[in-house]
Amino acid sequence: MFVHQAIAILDSGVGGLTVAKEVMRQLPREKIIYFGDTARAPYGPRSPEQVRLFTEQIVDFLIQFNPKMVVIACNTATAAALDFIAAKLTIPVIGVIHPGARAAISATKTGHVGVIGTVGTIRSGAYPAALIELSPYIQVVSEACPDLVPLVEQGQFDTEHTKEVVRRSLHSMRQNDIDCLILGCTHYPFLRGAIREVMGPGVKLISSAEETAREISTVLYQKGQLSKGEKTPVHQFFCSGDVKMFQTIAWEWLDEEIQLTPIVWHVRRAAGDAV
Ligand code: DGL
Repeated sequence: MFVHQAIAILDSGVGGLTVAKEVMRQLPREKIIYFGDTARAPYGPRSPEQVRLFTEQIVDFLIQFNPKMVVIACNTATAAALDFIAAKLTIPVIGVIHPGARAAISATKTGHVGVIGTVGTIRSGAYPAALIELSPYIQVVSEACPDLVPLVEQGQFDTEHTKEVVRRSLHSMRQNDIDCLILGCTHYPFLRGAIREVMGPGVKLISSAEETAREISTVLYQKGQLSKGEKTPVHQFFCSGDVKMFQTIAWEWLDEEIQLTPIVWHVRRAAGDAV
């Protein structure tokens, strides 16, 4: 029965927790199985082929739990692997780029939208393509910010160093006349305070997390697969790298203790890849 099955969520690391948190808020009956590939993060500088391979390995791992849906809560993996994974599975597979683009379109007044993301996401052109597919009038300016993900994976959300790196990373984006900035990496909402400070109050910050959770909700509703459980579900988390760091960040972000299982052996062995 679909209604008792979990939603599988994956990311290169802790970034997908921004989506998981929204799913917990909007769909509190749904059980989540989360995989953060922290041993191999960041995905941003990697080739699309490698990101596709890693995503496929994680999906193969998650599929053993018989989820009712897979959520690729990573923009880099969505850009590289969404179509590929969706074609392989018979359950719905949801990425974060279309929801992010949709949220920006509904928020912008001037039609001038900025996108920041990893090198892989920006190089893929997936955001401009998704925005222009929805509205040909949107003007998009994109920029890769490769220095931000490592700060988040180290749990440095609002140190002076973080503020300085954010300031440097957004220096040229600030010169553009945009009214919306898409945080096109699921890690970036962790740095929302620092990004807000640099971009100023005139620029709305768009995270795809809320809209992705809405899409999950819509798809499950349309398929009659929303969980009917009465009790708070027990979520399961897996990570391939530093357990302590993942746990600390997850507790802080989700504001609850999590059940975390390290599965370094699985990912490393399956990868055949020097981390
Ligand atoms: N959180 C991911 C994203 O949305 C990946 C960041 C990374 O591993 O480089 O792109």
